[in-house]
Amino acid sequence: MNILGIESSCDETSAAVIADGVLRSNIISSQFIHRYYGGIVPELASRAHQKLIVPVVDQALAVAGISRADIAAVAVTSGPGLIGALLVGVNFAKALAYGLNIPIIGVNHLEAHIYSNFIREPDGGVPQSLGYPFLCLIVSGGHTQLVLVHEPLNHELLGSTVDDAAGEAFDKVGKMLGLGFPGGPVIDRLAATGDPEYVKFPRSFLDDSGFDFSFSGIKTSMLYWLRDRKLLGHSNDITKPVIEPKMLADLCASFQKSVVDVLTNKMLLAVKRFGVRDIAIAGGVSANSELRRRMAELAAANGLRLSIPKFDYCTDNAAMIAQLGWMKLEHGIHSSIELDAEASLAL
Ligand code: KG4
Ligand code: ZN
Repeated sequence: MNILGIESSCDETSAAVIADGVLRSNIISSQFIHRYYGGIVPELASRAHQKLIVPVVDQALAVAGISRADIAAVAVTSGPGLIGALLVGVNFAKALAYGLNIPIIGVNHLEAHIYSNFIREPDGGVPQSLGYPFLCLIVSGGHTQLVLVHEPLNHELLGSTVDDAAGEAFDKVGKMLGLGFPGGPVIDRLAATGDPEYVKFPRSFLDDSGFDFSFSGIKTSMLYWLRDRKLLGHSNDITKPVIEPKMLADLCASFQKSVVDVLTNKMLLAVKRFGVRDIAIAGGVSANSELRRRMAELAAANGLRLSIPKFDYCTDNAAMIAQLGWMKLEHGIHSSIELDAEASLAL
C-alpha cells in the first residue's frame, strides 16, 4: 500500500512515498529566497510552494516507481505553520484525494517530527529501537516541546517554550553575529572549534520542577554582550565578518552550550520524574552536533536508549508526514475531505 506524504508548512516543499511502511522516496525542495530577507517571508513561501508542489510530488512518485493511480492514501500537514503555505499542501492533497477517490489524512507537523524516529528505509536502515513509553524533545524553528509518548499516537505534552523556540534563538543569534539565515547550522559548524566557556550566558530553567523552556534571556544576553563591545549593527553578510574568527567561534560555542545545557537538563528531569528508559529528539535543532553528543552522553550515563533521526529527517520533510499518515491509517484514522489548514494547530 502506497502512502503519499506532503509537507508545505514553512519553507520546504516536500513529498514522500511510503510503501507498506518502508520509505521509497523523500524529495525536499528548500526555498533559498528567504536568505535575502534574513527570515521567512510568508507570502514568498506560499508562492514558491505553488510553483513547486506539482514537480516535487511528480518526482517523489517517479523515484518510488509508481504513478498517481497507485497511491492508496494521501497524508498532508494540516498545521501548525504558515497559513498560506499550509493551504497549498492541503488543497493540493484534497484535490488529489477527491480525484483519485482515496482517503486523506491530516497530519500534525509536530506529531510527525516525533515519528520521524520511526522512518524505515529499504536498505536495512531500520530505526534505532525505541520502546513505549518514551520522552521526545521536539526542537525546531517554531517550537520547543517535551512530550511523553505513552503508546503509538497517544502522547502528553509536558512543557513548551514560553518565548523563543530553540531554533528561533539560534537563528536570531546567528543574525546578530552576521551569519545569515538560518543561523543554526552555521553556529553548529563554527562552535566546533570554539571555547564553550568563553562567555557564561544565563541558563533559564524557569521553574526547577517544571518542563517549560525559555530562550529569550540567552539571546538578549548575547545582544548586550555584543552591544557593549560595539560589535553589533554590522551587515548580515557572512563574507564580511566584523567579529574576528576566534571570538566568533568562542561565542558560537558558548551560546550553543547554554541552549544545550537547558535542553539536556529538562530531559534528565523528565527521565527521573517519569522513570522512562527510552528517549528521543526530533526537529531541525536535533541536527545539532552538540545536542546529539550531549543526549548520547546523558543516555549512556543513565542507562537509557536514545533515538535520533537521520539528518535528512531532522529538518522539515515529507517522509515523517507519510510515516505518521501510514501509522494513522493502520489505526483506522483518516480525515474527511473537509480537512482544513490550521496555523495554530496544537500538538
Ligand atoms: O524542523 P525545522 O526544519 O522547521 C520547523 O519546523 O521550524 O527546523 C528549522 C530550525 C531552524 O531554526 C534552524 O536554524 C535549526 O532548525 N537548525 C539547527 C541546525 N540545523 C537546523 N540548529 C542548530 N544546529 C543545527 N545543526
Ligand atoms: Zn518542523
